Amino acid sequence: MRVLVSGGAGYIGSHTVLALIEAGHDILVVDDFSNAKPTVVGRLEALSGRHIPVHAFDLTDADKTSHLFDTETIDAVIHFAGYKAVGESVAKPLSYYENNLGSTFSLVRAMQRHGVHKLVFSSSATVYGTDQAAATEDRPTFATNPYGWTKVMQEQILRDVAAADPDSRFALLRYFNPVGAHPSGTIGEDPSDVPNNLMPYIAQVAVGRREKLQVFGDDYDTVDGTGVRDYIHVEDLAAGHVAALEALERTEEPVSTWNLGTGRGTSVLELLHAFERAVGRELPYEVVARRAGDVAASYADPSKANAELGWRTVKTVDEMCADTWRWQSQNPDGYPD
Ligand code: UFG
Repeated sequence: MRVLVSGGAGYIGSHTVLALIEAGHDILVVDDFSNAKPTVVGRLEALSGRHIPVHAFDLTDADKTSHLFDTETIDAVIHFAGYKAVGESVAKPLSYYENNLGSTFSLVRAMQRHGVHKLVFSSSATVYGTDQAAATEDRPTFATNPYGWTKVMQEQILRDVAAADPDSRFALLRYFNPVGAHPSGTIGEDPSDVPNNLMPYIAQVAVGRREKLQVFGDDYDTVDGTGVRDYIHVEDLAAGHVAALEALERTEEPVSTWNLGTGRGTSVLELLHAFERAVGRELPYEVVARRAGDVAASYADPSKANAELGWRTVKTVDEMCADTWRWQSQNPDGYPD
């Protein structure tokens, strides 16, 4: 298939570009580089040995999006592009709704005009709201912040569009906590500001860019009192996208929903200690107050994806930490400008 990857220069998008090429697909990327550096593209070309065609524009521009479909052959779309910082979404809700919903409107309109039916959408465990432990896909969806609502709303929009056009083949992929990096250490997660997420924060403490980790609460009802999450290696997640795309060729369902996670929970302190093993030394931390809006535990029931996609995660937490550390230590300041 020739697959348009929106947000293909981003963290999950870039790893999925490689997985698609390895699986024999042809790709083109659209990315506005608002949260990605153009230097990732050369690294993807070096790793894949292929030219990566990149269209640099903002998908909320419906004319440019439509023009792209006029001029390129596109068999399917994987839609990663979107704003993703929970705290920022609380401060700038309109930007989040405009950008995340607007890009989906442009893309789906252009797909309809050009008879493109297959779409894989980046959703999130955040659609399970406060009910994220052992989550199965049939749970009701709701959110606790504007970012989360953009995911709930985009899922609903896609369900409605699919109901109106039975030729649609849409996959809603609910990611748990993506971490890790390509084993080469040349591509990985590169937060543009202070990391919001645990793994990149720990990695920056290890490399000396941050003084110490702040552990947000140790009084949850979990194994050691710290928050529990389902960390999934970004390469396993990328493989899940390839499996979902290929499943859309077989299924008769206009919409399919799949959790992409390992099914196993890891606490903040367990992840910190795994990272210490990867680095070979202890890392400084302090316990501080809980972060507003956090749940105690979030982990997938991935059995539907395992059965229907023939996919399962293979990478361990130790591999996630080793690969993150290789990326961070080789690129202490992230991608060059
Ligand atoms: N944590 C810390 N210190 C930090 C950062 C995080 O202790 O500096 C803790 C959190 O309290 C939580 C765990 O580490 O217990 C994981 O936090 P992350 O921010 O890495 O991940 P979240 O599970 O909170 O957030 C993720 C995605 C969001 C999504 C959310 C809910 O990043 O996009 O899951 O599904 F909205």
